[in-house]
Amino acid sequence: MCGIVGYIGFREAWPIVIKGLKRLEYRGYDSAGIALIDEDQLNIYKKAGKVKELEDFAGGKNLNGTIGMGHTRWATHGAPSDRNSHPHTSNNGRLSIIHNGIIENYATLKEELLRRGHQFNSDTDTEVLIHLIEEIYKNDATDLLEAVRLALNEVSGAYAIVIMDQDHPDQLIAARKGSPMVIGVGQGEYFIASDATPIIEYTKNVIYLNDNEIAFLKRDELSIKRLDNVEQTPYIQELELQLEMLEKGGYDHFMLKEIYEQPRSIRDCMRGRIYPEEGKVQLGGIKEFADKLKNIDRIIIVACGTSWHAGLVGEYLIEEYARIPVEVEYASEFRYRNPIITEKDVVIAISQSGETADTMAAIEMAKEKGATIFGVCNVVGASIPRITHAGVYTHAGPEIGVASTKAFTAQVTVLTLMAFYMAQQKGTVTNSKLVELLTELDCIPEKITLALQSNDLVRSISEKFKDSRNCLFLGRGSGFPVALEGALKLKEISYIHAEGYPAAEMKHGPIALIDEEMPVVVIATKNSSYEKVISNIQEVKARKGIVIAIVTAGDYEVSKMADYCIEIPDSSEAFLPLLATIPLQLLSYHIAVLRGCNVDQPRNLAKSVTVE
Ligand code: AGP
Repeated sequence: MCGIVGYIGFREAWPIVIKGLKRLEYRGYDSAGIALIDEDQLNIYKKAGKVKELEDFAGGKNLNGTIGMGHTRWATHGAPSDRNSHPHTSNNGRLSIIHNGIIENYATLKEELLRRGHQFNSDTDTEVLIHLIEEIYKNDATDLLEAVRLALNEVSGAYAIVIMDQDHPDQLIAARKGSPMVIGVGQGEYFIASDATPIIEYTKNVIYLNDNEIAFLKRDELSIKRLDNVEQTPYIQELELQLEMLEKGGYDHFMLKEIYEQPRSIRDCMRGRIYPEEGKVQLGGIKEFADKLKNIDRIIIVACGTSWHAGLVGEYLIEEYARIPVEVEYASEFRYRNPIITEKDVVIAISQSGETADTMAAIEMAKEKGATIFGVCNVVGASIPRITHAGVYTHAGPEIGVASTKAFTAQVTVLTLMAFYMAQQKGTVTNSKLVELLTELDCIPEKITLALQSNDLVRSISEKFKDSRNCLFLGRGSGFPVALEGALKLKEISYIHAEGYPAAEMKHGPIALIDEEMPVVVIATKNSSYEKVISNIQEVKARKGIVIAIVTAGDYEVSKMADYCIEIPDSSEAFLPLLATIPLQLLSYHIAVLRGCNVDQPRNLAKSVTVE
């Protein structure tokens, strides 16, 4: 959470930084701020609220300078307010910092600095860090780079920081530990950002800073050293990102665009990985572990939020096809238990952003205990793919809407491929069955296009339920994680309270909630639990609940009972989650729009949760 942007070069910094902040706003939008140096004068503008509010506030002020940095905040220490907005400054006001992360020992450091006469203007941990740097800079008669290095050796926590010095308008210092940072390398200019999106239109050459590294940047000079003072050789990579991927492309919201991108994103995810005619799956990223997969005792999946829901779908698929026991854990719970993990275990960590703090901590813990870790990530070059032993990218393309849509279906697709790949290695599924399954999987993008045709119907159903206060989502088998995901989507973007439940569990409690005001969304497609789900629908109807059923095209029986039916194309049970998710995404989208909610940037949320 929090987005940071920095620039040093020959162009005006303000337009680059402000545009960059807009691209990074998905990371947090509690406040925004910018620092620029013009003719040896440090100018800082900051404001609670969105980047637009900062832009309006700064209008007409001195925005000159070819060095600058900006921050968009997701509040941790200190309420969202002007005074807690970044950048923060040192006691003498000459040093300035932006920070993404948390300084855990800030309270102890602050006490000592207060004793030394420092005065603070905010409630943030970040301000403490810049005062500490100033203190070392002043007392140890060292240069700023060394002062930053020494200070960072004293702090615990996570950070991606950029520092500007009014007395040295020709330099930027950046460092990271546990929070992402990319440096764009231009001709006579450098860019810094939390991800590559603010950089892409200026250069495709980037350096992903590693944990515990500090970068020192001048207009025509870059050096990197580690916190232990060892010089590093910068490794420049070329970005594959395209600028159009970051635009709304005619859609009203990124979320809608991303929902509609799913036929393509799923196709991209499968490209070069499935060979339906031969009944073969190839996953280059985990190939070197093919033999190990034949003998593993179990798989543990760790993830958070929507990615955890994808993990639950993975559990059904891997157990069904590869016959390997799977446990699915919330990373945040797993990391604080003392779980039993051995060298024979494979841990699959799922994360769209590849930066989620709890998932990263769970990986580190499992790694220490000797497990083999696979990552399933979307953002190329993010932290998780770099700390795992192997992995498979989802290739869904940048997901800007805070509510995950295409990343979820791409994660499910990768887990489907992994289940089939493991089945292939272990021989738990015949080749002819794999031919059949892969042939059907190959057609899923077209079936998703058909599922998207329910959009108008879903919009009209949304009109009826936009003022609901609660909603239940029910499903069985792999329809259960779909129900969970449907409920999460609705609550996070429309602020309607929603619960996902296994349909059969309803009678053990939630049935008490059902009355004529309660919409109940039921995944009622034709699969092995169809008859049982029909009984659950009858139970809801008997209590006057309103049923919105997701059914297989042509279904007759459910339509006799349900109040509303949304059809999806027929498919094998294995692919049901990919199709049944589509109308639920559309339902939450339309309800949120009709309620006037900010669909792409829902309140209190951030796209990547880099704090625990
Ligand atoms: C999804 O809509 C959410 N905004 C959230 O639950 C998300 O899936 C979760 O924070 C995990 O993020 P990750 O996939 O980037 O690790």
